[in-house]
Amino acid sequence: MVRDTNLEDIGQLSLRVYRLVFPEDAIYGNLMYGGKLLLILDEIIAIMAIKFAKGAIVTASLDALDFYHPICVGNILVLATSLNYTGRSSMEIGVKVLAEDPVNNTVQHTCTAFSTCVKVDEHGKPRLLASFTPVTDVEKRRWAEAEQRKQHRMKVFVGLYSC
Ligand SMILES: CC(C)(COP(=O)(O)OP(=O)(O)OC[C@H]1O[C@@H](n2cnc3c(N)ncnc32)[C@H](O)[C@@H]1OP(=O)(O)O)[C@@H](O)C(=O)NCCC(=O)NCCS
Repeated sequence: MVRDTNLEDIGQLSLRVYRLVFPEDAIYGNLMYGGKLLLILDEIIAIMAIKFAKGAIVTASLDALDFYHPICVGNILVLATSLNYTGRSSMEIGVKVLAEDPVNNTVQHTCTAFSTCVKVDEHGKPRLLASFTPVTDVEKRRWAEAEQRKQHRMKVFVGLYSC
């Protein structure tokens, strides 16, 4: 959800990471560089995917990402990560990023990212992934939404490469 600072219950497979934004993360003055946030996101997504796959993974896609609010040096980033969906070899991981200003006691929803990672064998070929069964209402909702995103993604992907 856009600009929503609530964090839902932590599901069975989730990870919450906190990071302080340092001056070296900024590009102009005290504004954080978007590329640095992408690097952090990618690392957290990979940790989650590798832990679940218990093996090698590759990133197949990162959905289009909008930044709703700038992040400043001195903010505390809260990266709430969850495994949303598993297919035969792929899994969707979502990360919601909040930026806390500890001085002014404000919290902003900065972005939400969805990435698909694929478990691969030693030749880089897709490998069967253990399945994950959503149990809670939140997990079931995330699963259903992820399934829809997968269908849309694959339709766009096939369309792009069939021309
Ligand atoms: C991702 C990759 C392994 C898929 O291989 P493939 O031969 O196309 O495999 P398949 O068509 O059988 O798809 C395997 C799974 O990946 C998913 N997938 C493939 N391309 C995808 C894409 N662009 N976005 C999201 N999911 C994708 C499929 O839906 C399928 O999921 P499922 O097994 O859960 O149903 C292959 O495209 C690849 O190696 N890409 C490069 C990955 C990489 O190097 N990333 C880092 C870039 S720096």
